[in-house]
Amino acid sequence: MAANRSVLVLPGDGIGPEVMEQVQRVIGWFDKKGSVRFDVKEDLAGGACFDAHGVSIRDQTMEIALSTDAVLFGAVGGPKWDDVPREHRPEAGLLRLRKDLDLFANLRPAIVLDAMIDASTLKPEVVKGLDIMILRELTSGVYFGQPRGEQTLEDGSVRVVDTQAYNEEEVVRVIRVAFELARKRKNLVHCAEKSNVMETGVFWRKISARVAKEEYPDVEFQHILADNCAMQLLRDPHQFDVIVTDNLFGDILSDEAAMMTGSLGMLPSASLGNPDPITGKRHAMYEPVHGSAPDIAGEGKANPLAMLLSFAMMLRYSFDLGDDADRVETVVQNVLNDGYRTGDIMQSGCHLVSTEEMGTKLLSELDRTVD
Ligand code: NAI
Ligand code: MG
Repeated sequence: MAANRSVLVLPGDGIGPEVMEQVQRVIGWFDKKGSVRFDVKEDLAGGACFDAHGVSIRDQTMEIALSTDAVLFGAVGGPKWDDVPREHRPEAGLLRLRKDLDLFANLRPAIVLDAMIDASTLKPEVVKGLDIMILRELTSGVYFGQPRGEQTLEDGSVRVVDTQAYNEEEVVRVIRVAFELARKRKNLVHCAEKSNVMETGVFWRKISARVAKEEYPDVEFQHILADNCAMQLLRDPHQFDVIVTDNLFGDILSDEAAMMTGSLGMLPSASLGNPDPITGKRHAMYEPVHGSAPDIAGEGKANPLAMLLSFAMMLRYSFDLGDDADRVETVVQNVLNDGYRTGDIMQSGCHLVSTEEMGTKLLSELDRTVD
């Protein structure tokens, strides 16, 4: 039996706890039947934490997050906390996790499973078999650069500024993640920027070319202008494997790529920090792309697959358990191929199941993988 792996589970609010419960059942399955054990701690985050403790995440929870191998995060927020002061709003806890763990690399896979091909608004022949990864720089760039805000000029007119700024290390570290990912995939990296009109674009182009040449000569590498990348994603997404880009373009391109796959309830994500110089371990957090869905919370309607696929990403990227990650992903495909659907992805001729029933189907499929 392999050593325990420490995981902090933060279900959060709304459907967060409902989808996390299904992941906990899968963790329990691995405990009993798989070859892997997890040392799981669970705590409050977001609105639920505010209600209990008056803050959106506690210092003691942050300490655990900092010392744990991986954080599994559900979703936070909801109308109940609309009037809570800004520093205690549910999102504040999530932002603190990202910031304190320095999670600069945001991985957003866009995968089109055969069973879900009709959920895409694109033609089946364009998206069939799609499997690409958008890698977004998450902690710098124009969302954080200084100065920012309104200025009143001498003539009394008002001007507003955002600052797109990157230092070399911030670019290098995320470019490296892109190449490491590509080596385990189809060995191709595109770096998207606007080097034709932006100084930061020129910089990204220069740094990425250098890292490619000096450190990853075995990986195929291409520059692409971010606007062209947006078009090419819709025209022929199969030309891509890993696309690495800055915070702003990554925000947009990852949403575009995600929607090629159809449903919010199916989309996982991972956010990684720098490897520890001694142990090589990275801080990491895994969460579905969707929010707390207050409109369906408590009704057993939530699709747990985005959360479960986030768990699979944890197996792959925090614990190097690629076979077990494949196993979870295959089980998800099998359940979909058998026609089981939660409401958000329901199609005619399929069987509508609740969140918990979907979890039960997943467990029985998992059982079949060890028969
Ligand atoms: P949302 O993602 O929660 O919901 C958008 C729509 O998709 C809703 O109709 C919802 O029912 C549906 N949906 C989302 N996930 C689903 C799932 N797993 N299964 C079935 N249907 C699903 O986004 P929205 O409505 O903009 O935000 C709701 C709350 O969530 C807000 O308080 C927002 O601030 C918060 N939020 C939190 C995030 C996080 O914790 N990372 C991310 C996005 C929003
Ligand atoms: Mg966005």
